[in-house]
Amino acid sequence: MKNFIIAGNWKMNCPDIPAFAAALPAQEPGPTVIIAPPFPFIPAALRAFLRCGVGVSAQDVSAHERGAFTGEVSAEHLASLGARYAIVGHSERRAYHGETNELVCAKASVALRHGLTPIICVGETMEQRRLGDTEAVLTRGVSQSANGLDPSKIIVAYEPVWAIGTGIAATALDAERAAELIAELVPGAPVLYGGSVTPDNARELLSKRHISGALIGGASLGADSLGAIINTAISLSKEAEEL
Ligand code: PGA
Repeated sequence: MKNFIIAGNWKMNCPDIPAFAAALPAQEPGPTVIIAPPFPFIPAALRAFLRCGVGVSAQDVSAHERGAFTGEVSAEHLASLGARYAIVGHSERRAYHGETNELVCAKASVALRHGLTPIICVGETMEQRRLGDTEAVLTRGVSQSANGLDPSKIIVAYEPVWAIGTGIAATALDAERAAELIAELVPGAPVLYGGSVTPDNARELLSKRHISGALIGGASLGADSLGAIINTAISLSKEAEEL
């Protein structure tokens, strides 16, 4: 049976954290739920979410251990706060901050060294998809971004760039095809799908064999919509148990 992972990426937004935590469905037993608030809100998120079993993630982490890197946030400091995950290589960081697979791998490695689980994002642009390059982009993205890392210690998110924030999710079939390819490259690593996941399409996506969860942007900003996706994961797990 899949142990679903439902991760919310709040990006540069922050709902009222105590109200949000109070409105989430009970977790026990349930999927692994992770919230990635902006850096300044990590302590408040830890206070509010720890008691309901929600793990807290950073949205990024420095590739450096420490030192003269103004504005960077180290894995060591994040781990010392109590964060347990770090998203690395989100397409917004790749697009707006020039992050390469090699840099993403360095970030994931430093996260791992400090006990944070990296959530490594990969995905093709619409142009790459049109050119038929999706497989090559994903293969390169995963093998370079997770180069030398223990697959059992990482999470990979397949996030087609064209599906992020557009309201147009990949079809469950395409997402499954990509997740299967990724699962072959990093056997044992859970593969999440991300890109316009909503309560309406979560069931179809999460039902797919190689999709172990979702990385959710917009729909993770409301406790109702994130709660509905968590409940979908709970009911899929129950259905699988009954089979
Ligand atoms: P979205 O974002 O759910 O708003 O499309 C997903 C992401 O950026 O991780």
